[in-house]
Amino acid sequence: MARLSITSCLGILTVCLAILAAFVYQSTQQDIMKDSSNLPPWFAFTFGFKAFKLLELFPNWVLPPPVRMVELALGGLHKSQVIVAIDDLGIADALGDSAQTAQQLAATLGIQDADKLCRLLTAAAAFGVLTARQDSKSSTITFHNNALSAVLRNDHPNTVTHTIKGGMQSLYMPFNYIAEGLRQDRVPFDIAHGQDMWQYLKNNAEMEHEFSLAMASQDKMGIHGLLTDYDWSQHSKVIDVGAAYGTFLAAMLKQHPSLSGVVCDLSQVVQKAEQQWQSKYPSSMINRTSFVECDFLKSGMLPKADQAREAYVLRDILHDWSDDKVLVILRNLRQAIGDNPSAVVLLVESVLQGITDLSVKYLLDITMLVAVDGKERTEQEFGQLLQDTGFHLKTVHQTRGLYRVVEALPVSS
Ligand SMILES: C[S@@+](CC[C@H](N)C(=O)[O-])C[C@H]1O[C@@H](n2cnc3c(N)ncnc32)[C@H](O)[C@@H]1O
Repeated sequence: MARLSITSCLGILTVCLAILAAFVYQSTQQDIMKDSSNLPPWFAFTFGFKAFKLLELFPNWVLPPPVRMVELALGGLHKSQVIVAIDDLGIADALGDSAQTAQQLAATLGIQDADKLCRLLTAAAAFGVLTARQDSKSSTITFHNNALSAVLRNDHPNTVTHTIKGGMQSLYMPFNYIAEGLRQDRVPFDIAHGQDMWQYLKNNAEMEHEFSLAMASQDKMGIHGLLTDYDWSQHSKVIDVGAAYGTFLAAMLKQHPSLSGVVCDLSQVVQKAEQQWQSKYPSSMINRTSFVECDFLKSGMLPKADQAREAYVLRDILHDWSDDKVLVILRNLRQAIGDNPSAVVLLVESVLQGITDLSVKYLLDITMLVAVDGKERTEQEFGQLLQDTGFHLKTVHQTRGLYRVVEALPVSS
């Protein structure tokens, strides 16, 4: 009993400190369009993660269980769909830097019923997305963007609008089939869409484009940590396997002028990646990059490691696949490396810390369960898969963000 009270007190104290720190931090953030990807010092990052975990659980301690359960079960759906609707309607872009009434917004967006729009915006403001102000005399409600809604603007440096669109359009239906997927031992996405996700994307060019943009948008949520906390300059060439449009590689090449790179993905994706690069990046970067079509599930299709200090990078790739497919991908990588002793494989993944990690990582794991036959893995699980395919897990680099870099070296046979 005494131990429980001390633990609870410490938990509540940490939560209070975290709230205070967040409040002080927020009050210093005047510019809602500011690029928020600056990295915190390591101690703040480590403490922040622990405090965030406690904050997540705080409502469980203070709300009655039935209220909290309904809030968790339905609130997630409601909040999610309110945000998706706001994004879909382009509210944040329409507001820009101004404050507007629902009537003004409805007129701009061609929405007939301004009252319904007002209810949607008020609901969003109630959980902190958008800010609402009511004039005490006229009762007129005006809405304006805050730091949260601003990241739904297309012109925000950290915009997440593509992540929301790409994540929602094809995944909304499959999330209805989690229980059915478990009963039938099938992937919920396949039940909902009658085909697996890769086939679906291949058959829907528009969806595939949105998916690749969503992948590029992932950069907004953690690329600075990856670029700063791992030393990419130690490599001569980075082969980005399953690169989508290669935005991660582009960021590395921009930062390290001596680095060259390869964008490697399925043919239809890599063709679009090359077009994007031609219009987006300077020739000084394009000249150091090659675009290679590959299928990493097929033997002999990955570019060979033909020079010293090459790195194969796979960001968010292995979590898309079941263990048996991961073994195929790693064996194909091992084959491509051959007897080049200085080549490394870098798996950029969220890497679960047992069962006590942040809930966002387990939700990501559920996304993999719903969308593809994949999973988030622990360091031990990566270690075993690497050992089974001719690699040795050298180390796992922590970065200030959701990602870790699992570094693997080839073992000579
Ligand atoms: C989750 S996305 C990751 C994209 C990128 N690495 C990133 O972090 O932004 C997975 C990528 O794997 C690619 N992919 C799927 N199956 C593939 C295969 N058999 N061979 C090569 N690439 C594949 C997809 O086209 C997609 O670009």
